[in-house]
Amino acid sequence: MNDIIKIENLTFTYSGGETPHTAIRGVSLEIEKGTFVAVLGHNGSGKSTLAKEMNAILLPSGGRVYVNGMDTFEESLLLEIRKTVGMVFQNPDNQIVANVVEDDVAFGPENIGVAPDEIRRRVDAALSAVGMSVYREHAPHLLSGGQKQRIAIAGVIAMEPECIVLDEPTAMLDPVGRREVIQTIHKLNEERGITIVLITHHMDETIDADRLIVMSDGVIVEDGKPADIFTHVKRLKDIGLTVPETTELLYELQEEGIQVSLDALSIEDCAREIYSAISKKD
Ligand SMILES: Nc1ncnc2c1ncn2[C@@H]1O[C@H](COP(=O)(O)OP(=O)(O)OP(=O)(O)O)[C@@H](O)[C@H]1O
Ligand SMILES: [Mg+2]
Repeated sequence: MNDIIKIENLTFTYSGGETPHTAIRGVSLEIEKGTFVAVLGHNGSGKSTLAKEMNAILLPSGGRVYVNGMDTFEESLLLEIRKTVGMVFQNPDNQIVANVVEDDVAFGPENIGVAPDEIRRRVDAALSAVGMSVYREHAPHLLSGGQKQRIAIAGVIAMEPECIVLDEPTAMLDPVGRREVIQTIHKLNEERGITIVLITHHMDETIDADRLIVMSDGVIVEDGKPADIFTHVKRLKDIGLTVPETTELLYELQEEGIQVSLDALSIEDCAREIYSAISKKD
């Protein structure tokens, strides 16, 4: 089985309020092991709801979600499902539970009864994976936002998940913190083969993903390679998303009749694309 997450015709309706609200409307999706998948979508498009379905925080109103083949409806598998898919949320302050970094990272494994020697090994490995080993005896509340979020990620890694779902993990961070966190999760994906699902509002954080999924009003409207999807500039703009600055520049040049291709996402590729278009003109 190559898919770590398999979602079949999922619908989800919030029924707590005065009027029920359907946030997911018939989504089917498979996420292959070891891939880095980014999810974009406007406010309220259903991204967080989808994320919560991926480790049984929410259960389907219709359809099925399988994690490594385990049906999230199966209560006896809940612990195994939560161990397989870890979650990281937006606000690092809400995810830190201890007064010392290493205690915080140890909290999850301690809770599931991991032996002390093994906990020590996991804490060392997790802190090293996020580049925070030297801070192990520090107080988390004195760290920067990016560092706190890396500690939250270490806490998830200490549970040795196969997949991590991150719901706008950089939303509250400054540019330095954002970069730290994005680099960290790419490293986890590349070096440890951890499957990543990254939900974000920042287009530039999705450029290096293997796959980009775009949601709008509870359905998936785009699914493919980021460079391909960003060429659909008009369609993305129509659903309230902006494209990366490189794509925007190439798009405007194209509108002016200059022949450039829209899939040059990095600044270097974009510059090269413009250079060659201008050279051709002469
Ligand atoms: N607990 C809730 N009760 C009722 N409706 C909810 C609840 N949580 C979310 N919703 C509604 O469900 C829809 C999808 O919400 P969701 O949080 O999944 O969107 P999102 O894409 O994560 O948005 P954002 O970008 O703002 O984080 C929204 O219309 C939202 O108002
Ligand atoms: Mg959300």
